[in-house]
Amino acid sequence: MASLATALSFVLMLLAATVDFAHACSSCRYARRNDSTASQLINAAIDSLGGHEALSNLKGVTYQINDVFRVRSVMQNYHLFETDRYIVSSGFQNISFSFREQGFSQRIDRNLVSSDYFTFIRPEVSPRDFSMVAKSGSDGFVCFTKGNNNVFFPKNQTYGYVDAIMTEYLLLQAQKLSPKLLLEVEKHDPTATTVEYRESTLPAVRDEQLNLTVVFDPKTNLPMLIRAFEDHPILGRTNNDLQLYNYTQVKGLQFPRTQKIIYGDEAILEDTIVSQVYVNPAFEQGFFDGLAPDETETTPSPPKADPRYGHAEMTEYWSNTLWAGEYTSSLEFLNVSHPADDLPGAHHLAFLNNTNFYQLVLEFEESVIVFEAPPHQSELVIQWVEENIKKPISHLWVSHHHHDHNLDVAKFAAIGASVIVPEMAAPYWSKIPDIQLLTFTEDKPFIYSDSKMQARFLWRPNTPHSADWTYAIVTTACPDADTSMLAFTADAYSTNFESDTNLANSWLLQAIGDGMSKDTIVVPAHGWPTSFSEVYERLGSPYPDFNSTSFVSGGNICLNAA
Ligand SMILES: *[C@@H]1O[C@H](CO)[C@@H](O)[C@H](O)[C@H]1NC(C)=O
Ligand SMILES: *[C@@H]1O[C@H](CO)[C@@H](O)[C@H](O)[C@H]1NC(C)=O
Ligand SMILES: *[C@@H]1O[C@H](CO)[C@@H](O)[C@H](O)[C@H]1NC(C)=O
Ligand SMILES: *[C@@H]1O[C@H](CO)[C@@H](O)[C@H](O)[C@H]1NC(C)=O
Ligand SMILES: *[C@@H]1O[C@H](CO)[C@@H](O)[C@H](O)[C@H]1NC(C)=O
Ligand SMILES: *[C@@H]1O[C@H](CO)[C@@H](O)[C@H](O)[C@H]1NC(C)=O
Ligand SMILES: *[C@@H]1O[C@H](CO)[C@@H](O)[C@H](O)[C@H]1NC(C)=O
Ligand SMILES: *[C@@H]1O[C@H](CO)[C@@H](O)[C@H](O)[C@H]1NC(C)=O
Repeated sequence: MASLATALSFVLMLLAATVDFAHACSSCRYARRNDSTASQLINAAIDSLGGHEALSNLKGVTYQINDVFRVRSVMQNYHLFETDRYIVSSGFQNISFSFREQGFSQRIDRNLVSSDYFTFIRPEVSPRDFSMVAKSGSDGFVCFTKGNNNVFFPKNQTYGYVDAIMTEYLLLQAQKLSPKLLLEVEKHDPTATTVEYRESTLPAVRDEQLNLTVVFDPKTNLPMLIRAFEDHPILGRTNNDLQLYNYTQVKGLQFPRTQKIIYGDEAILEDTIVSQVYVNPAFEQGFFDGLAPDETETTPSPPKADPRYGHAEMTEYWSNTLWAGEYTSSLEFLNVSHPADDLPGAHHLAFLNNTNFYQLVLEFEESVIVFEAPPHQSELVIQWVEENIKKPISHLWVSHHHHDHNLDVAKFAAIGASVIVPEMAAPYWSKIPDIQLLTFTEDKPFIYSDSKMQARFLWRPNTPHSADWTYAIVTTACPDADTSMLAFTADAYSTNFESDTNLANSWLLQAIGDGMSKDTIVVPAHGWPTSFSEVYERLGSPYPDFNSTSFVSGGNICLNAA
């Protein structure tokens, strides 16, 4: 033990010295000394794993996970800064690798239980399962040969081959977990570095080709973090670490039994404890094959990164079990309508061949407020406003921090729009560089108006969907009893799916407190506009005889009144 510690402190000393040296002398003839430190670190790690020869001869492995498999969410949480929600609350799976001369194949056979979070979009959340095979390389692919990983899809729907963007993402995740990762890294002429993690300085090597950093356990020399960087559209540069520990020896090689995905150095996104490791198992014929052409309408898509879909966004979709391919609609499918004749400035935008997300655009005399910033669709909305309304988008409002509502906030901030958010959420949105926030509180809703139209944005604490959840009403600047009132609501009531009535019930109570008209037109983020009576009838709830003058939150609803 003592000699190991001594050897290690020597490596760390050497590392510190060479790192400094490299900084001082980046192009001088000694610059390759950093490589020798990297080689030392990798050799020490490979020795600890069981040696070069044993690792090179490894043909395949299966990690069998019987008990602990959980997935949490980066952004679909209740609180803004806590990872407090499960996406997959339990599961079991086998993860297998098979190694070729060049590259690997991976297969995941996963059984999972979606968490009760999804009761807001599904009447039931019973267990589901899938088998997914992946092949590395430029001719690689990822294919679901059974089931799928999308909570909206029927369980028995075989997804088939996934698109190039998700293939690239999933192959990187597979590469990170591969027991032969270090043999790959070694080929790429990595450089030695150190990583600060939880106030510890740890030895590491950086592989520019894979865009990964491998951090070593200073006590055992074994790989402990496989780090990738992701450029998160809201959180900024974020570490996506695969943490490996609790190694066990099987047939002369060390395998990690506890595997976690740690996001941003904090959140445990995925939790796995391996029950059994099988080394060089006899895989059935065709175990790693994708579907044959006559078994699927999908086709293999070799990995191809797409700058429009960074890994952070793909992490959102994959971990939240929501990926269904890239956004494909366009302005030719846009149907703009006006839910209320007396509110001609309230444009409802529906992309008819992409019905996941509907938006409102409020056209005031001098400015425009866009409701919500869904990823990719926002670019079309910005273009539509430029070409058709021809007024600056001065404001953006997002209903809450779940990713489908706001991953494009930065695109609005970049064109100078101020973003309307509840005060308690300001620290979250402030992570976007140069963002201008307009904040409001429970007592003082944000109100925007001109001489014709007004919008009010309403937050109250402890609503059930997310801590920062807000809704918005739109009416005239000084409504009569029979003036129209629109209420844009995200997730509390949706016509696209069978929403959990608990969310609708909570919103109904808030609406009563605010004095919302019983004749309000509900404009859901996920679905077509509908009458508010549908909401209270579905709840079997009485609703007071409120009209558009009954609204109380934010003061007199008639803004022209003295
Ligand atoms: C070693 O480090 C120097 C300075 O950081 C760098 O310029 C050089 O590219 C590195 N060598 C290799 C092979 O990466
Ligand atoms: C995992 O592998 C073990 C051993 O081959 C097998 O008994 C089990 O059924 C597999 N589980 C799944 C989920 O495929
Ligand atoms: C999936 O299950 C549903 C309901 O049980 C059934 O109607 C449908 O035909 C099944 N689809 C496939 C592809 O097996
Ligand atoms: C590495 O990843 C970061 C973060 O996603 C990205 O900005 C960078 O372009 C990547 N580098 C390469 C060489 O792919
Ligand atoms: C280490 O792995 C064993 C075997 O799977 C498991 O029982 C144990 O809980 C793991 N320990 C930790 C600290 O994860
Ligand atoms: C929408 O239409 C475009 C153009 O025809 C098509 O490429 C795309 O797949 C469609 N999207 C959906 C979700 O159907
Ligand atoms: C466009 O939206 C309006 C209002 O919701 C609706 O009446 C109309 O049918 C839609 N058009 C198409 C082509 O779906
Ligand atoms: C509208 O609501 C206000 C306040 O709740 C009430 O005083 C008024 O009588 C209502 N008007 C009509 C026409 O129902």
